[in-house]
Amino acid sequence: MKIIAVGGTGTLGTAVVKELSKRHSVVTAGRNSGDVRVDITDAKSIEKMYQEVGKFDAVVSTTGNVHFGEFTKMTSENYFVGLNNKLMGQVNLVIVGLRYINNNGSFTLTSGMLSDDPIRNGSSAAMVNGAIDSFAIASAIEMPRGIRINAVSPTILTESVDAYGDYFIGFAPVGAARVAVAYSKSIEGAQTGQVYRVW
Ligand SMILES: NC(=O)c1ccc[n+]([C@@H]2O[C@H](COP(=O)([O-])OP(=O)(O)OC[C@H]3O[C@@H](n4cnc5c(N)ncnc54)[C@H](OP(=O)(O)O)[C@@H]3O)[C@@H](O)[C@H]2O)c1
Repeated sequence: MKIIAVGGTGTLGTAVVKELSKRHSVVTAGRNSGDVRVDITDAKSIEKMYQEVGKFDAVVSTTGNVHFGEFTKMTSENYFVGLNNKLMGQVNLVIVGLRYINNNGSFTLTSGMLSDDPIRNGSSAAMVNGAIDSFAIASAIEMPRGIRINAVSPTILTESVDAYGDYFIGFAPVGAARVAVAYSKSIEGAQTGQVYRVW
């Protein structure tokens, strides 16, 4: 398969690309890194990426930012960071990508455990992750041409403990290589409308 990995150079994305590259041709994409340039917050940039890559069989997204902050100090603007970036950026990868993806292709998005198992400062992350999971579940039933969609919801990665571990005391981290296997299941399996929780 030819697979586009948006965010394929990041902490999680690197492990996903390593796993998928064993069996597939993977094109990585990012704002400043990867084989092609894309900014998921800009629909025109997404369109340009798809035109540049040509026909493909799967898109995997391991990207998206949200604002972390104390709930009582959160502003609308703070919430819009996650809505415009992690949520609508990934939704736009799907709705624009539908025009380019091959029959029986698949989209795999990344959410995260915080919508099920919240932490302090994580209200925006929780909201966005829940929306991504629901988008995958709901859009799956209307996908045309045999196209599938799933979300992967990881807990904190072992590789990210040094950076964010203090916010996740009491959570058992999971290695990125283990999480990457869920992306293979989504892309190479037959299921659709699923949320693969890896924690
Ligand atoms: N790390 C964790 O413990 C963890 C746990 C659960 C869920 N997640 C979720 O997994 C995803 C990836 O996390 P990560 O820790 O791997 O992040 P990361 O290391 O910061 O990597 C982010 C990747 O996305 C690309 N990127 C960033 N902004 C972009 C944009 N606007 N358009 C296109 N590409 C963009 C980056 O490349 P460029 O800089 O070149 O753009 C990079 O390849 C996020 O949605 C995160 O919430 C992470």
